[in-house]
Amino acid sequence: MEKIIVDGGKPLFGTIEVSGMKNAAVAVIFATVLSNDICVLDNLPEISDVADCFAILESIGARITHVSADTVEIDTRSIRDAEAPVKLVQKMRASYYLAGAMLGRFGKAKVGLPGGCNLGERPVDLHVKAFETLGASVTLSDEYIEATVNPERGLCGKNIYFDCCSVGATINAILAAVLAKGSTILENPAREPHVVDVANFLNACGADVRGAGTSIIKINGVERLHGCEYSIIPDMIEAGTFMVAAAATKGKLYIDNVIPKHLETITAKLIEMGVSVEEYDEAVCVSYEGEMTPIHVKTLPYPGFPTDMHPQMSVLLCLANGESAMSETIWSNRFRYVDELRRMGAKITVADKTATFEGNTVFKPAVVKSCDLRAGAAMVVAALATKGITTIEDIAYIERGYVNIVEKIRSVGGNIQKVNFPDEAS
Ligand code: UD1
Repeated sequence: MEKIIVDGGKPLFGTIEVSGMKNAAVAVIFATVLSNDICVLDNLPEISDVADCFAILESIGARITHVSADTVEIDTRSIRDAEAPVKLVQKMRASYYLAGAMLGRFGKAKVGLPGGCNLGERPVDLHVKAFETLGASVTLSDEYIEATVNPERGLCGKNIYFDCCSVGATINAILAAVLAKGSTILENPAREPHVVDVANFLNACGADVRGAGTSIIKINGVERLHGCEYSIIPDMIEAGTFMVAAAATKGKLYIDNVIPKHLETITAKLIEMGVSVEEYDEAVCVSYEGEMTPIHVKTLPYPGFPTDMHPQMSVLLCLANGESAMSETIWSNRFRYVDELRRMGAKITVADKTATFEGNTVFKPAVVKSCDLRAGAAMVVAALATKGITTIEDIAYIERGYVNIVEKIRSVGGNIQKVNFPDEAS
């Protein structure tokens, strides 16, 4: 069993490089299916979720060639309209993008219902609504989503209104619509940067997707796509995690390869706490000494405060010099990190989807678990802010989404290592 061991309480100093965005990469990789050609993707994060996407595509006939550590050539010409093994598909949430991509290319898709982090109920009703509106018949079972369209009619563009902002349903609707006949209009789509990245990738392949990142997306169907070379945007959540780590350890990090605009909400909340954030063209510099002011944070769809930064930000709220609150509006199970932070001495109560932090916490070392990807990242940040040795278990979650997190933090002075314990001893 692998664990992360942190001897914390020391400030992080130096330059840290952010990798490509996990949530954009996993969507763009599945979107390559629609190109029916060769795509070269650059700035891909080397994480297990990306490796799982490749395994899924290879299982249905794609050829994947690793050009360098973060550049991969994907040839989707030999993909069959086959079903990827359920065991592979269930390893990650984003495998549902295969449904939109296969439906768009072959007019049919059968994909196992996805796994990923257990963040509470994760319905797919909006994905189903989008496929049905475009003319597909959809069957949902406990294990599968299956969509087919009458081959003579094919998918046809329509207006689709989303009752709530769903990243997954928005991207799946775009994937299904790019090769449909006529125009599709998405109303109230998700506006996250990764939605924009998928649209930009598809446009580079010859699609006509307009308005991604705004409240209306228009997709004019085209007959075919072609391959392209495309670079994935930097990961705003990895960047945000390092921003919080700089403040929590009272250090100074120059966080490079970011798009500062994507970080605006995180930056605003850090500044509200009294943390210094300097913005550069492709970097931010975060530093802090002294006491942090307590604040209230509420997660919301982009451009609101990202739910994927909730657990990491909560570590700072524990350290503020008074009572803070974090309200979660997206995932009911987001609060699983709370018990772990309590193990480290934090005083937190949770009621009505809001966590209240007493503040002024002096974390004490403990053995804690990564309950999910972002909760695991929060444990790393808390451990870095804690004098003494903290052990973090179940680190596979963290490795789903963070590239070489141990090496990156070591390079800015963190005393952190990954240790492989034999199972009996662990
Ligand atoms: C994506 C991200 C995840 C992030 C989340 C919210 C990926 C691979 N994952 O997940 O890291 O936490 O966005 O920013 O990009 N909903 C419905 N019906 C649906 C779909 C969603 O009611 O058919 C609801 C969900 O229950 C949730 C909200 O919409 O409350 C947002 O979910 P969604 O944006 O779809 O999340 P994911 O795409 O799964």
